[in-house]
Amino acid sequence: MNIVDIILDKRYGRELSEDQIDFFVRGVTDRIIPDYQISALLMAIVLNGMTDRETTALTLKMAASGQVNDLSFVEGVAVDKHSTGGVGDKVTPIVMPLCATFGVQSVKLSGRGLGFTGGTVDKFESIEGFNINVAAGDFPDLIKNTGMVISGQTPDLAPADKILYALRDVTGTVDSIPLIASSIMSKKIAGGAEAIVLDVTCGSGAFMKDKERATELARTMINIGNLAGRKTVALITDMDQPLGRTCGNTLEMMEVFDTLRGKGSDDVVETVCNIAAKMITLAGKNEGMDHEALVEECKKRLSDNSALSKYYELILSQGGHVMDTGIPVYKEMPFEELRITAEEDGYISGIKADTIGHASVLLGAGRLQKTDEIDYGAGLCFYVKVGDKVRKGDVICSLCRGENRKVEDDKIFDIMELVQSAYSYSKEKPEPRKAVIDIIE
Ligand code: URA
Repeated sequence: MNIVDIILDKRYGRELSEDQIDFFVRGVTDRIIPDYQISALLMAIVLNGMTDRETTALTLKMAASGQVNDLSFVEGVAVDKHSTGGVGDKVTPIVMPLCATFGVQSVKLSGRGLGFTGGTVDKFESIEGFNINVAAGDFPDLIKNTGMVISGQTPDLAPADKILYALRDVTGTVDSIPLIASSIMSKKIAGGAEAIVLDVTCGSGAFMKDKERATELARTMINIGNLAGRKTVALITDMDQPLGRTCGNTLEMMEVFDTLRGKGSDDVVETVCNIAAKMITLAGKNEGMDHEALVEECKKRLSDNSALSKYYELILSQGGHVMDTGIPVYKEMPFEELRITAEEDGYISGIKADTIGHASVLLGAGRLQKTDEIDYGAGLCFYVKVGDKVRKGDVICSLCRGENRKVEDDKIFDIMELVQSAYSYSKEKPEPRKAVIDIIE
């Protein structure tokens, strides 16, 4: 077998055999196949696609390219969640303690932010003392004590995906359903999950720009999950405007805290409770409730402090500091630098999430390169959402930087203009947006 024949087969639209896919993934992991041949095959996959059989084989081979976690210490079903990424996505730090109130135990392996989507690891790291690099050997004790552990992904989790993802990023081959699906599902399977809830984001701030593509990605991942023996459910959620009231690390963790005190925004509460309800059901802990009843019960547990108590357990068990007042201690507080005002009278008809995400990175909240340092205090606060009525001059949004700001003063006005360009206005009230667009079982 040789790689040139495999590239030619895919270039002419032929289905690759399991042996060919195995040969490719081994050659990638062992660094035997040079980057130019890997990239050629990736481009052929982007152009000609893959059948479900090929996509599943690619996923399973990538999952097996490194360490596969054994989560047998988890009591009941080990259920995991994954978001395909977005702006202002603070779902995981709320969902974990919420699920824990139902006795669902979760081992969450998360990534750092790169590009305009934020990373859960960076968000937790904005809390002073919080250890996000937990050794796998410590997972069982943490699970026994609190039912939850969150840790950064180790390099030996699906290493083939790491090599492929880095190449896709620089060869214009990220946007491909079989490649995205196999990349995500290989890490979930290697992470040891028995059941998986996928949050497939859809809109300007997501990989999938419309509902049709998001549904296709969701169906592909569900198919892989089921063929791999994992119960898998997907929610299509709105990412056509930023989720919630903030984006940026400390700002989002402050919003997490508010949501756990029953003061969350409607879109965050709706998204979190629907995802949690599916995780609880897959774990068999729904106590006889159907989906709608479970969503209502989740909302109740966000307002009666039960999820907040579990959140404290999670923070303290991983070394995070909490003040006597109950408020977590953040590494860098956000300071408001500039307010942005509405340019017209009317209704907000759009807030481009990708533009806001880019502005947030430029403010210092995210990374353009893996090695960039971030300003935990940087980010944006949103005072209006799509559908809200405004008058010219109303404050619609503010830009924040931390004490150790990484962005020079003269850049902040360019960022302000960029943020202004994300907003659009209409005279007519736009249709209300649904936070959860669809649920696919
Ligand atoms: N997230 C991943 O892990 N992989 C992709 O390809 C896209 C999003």
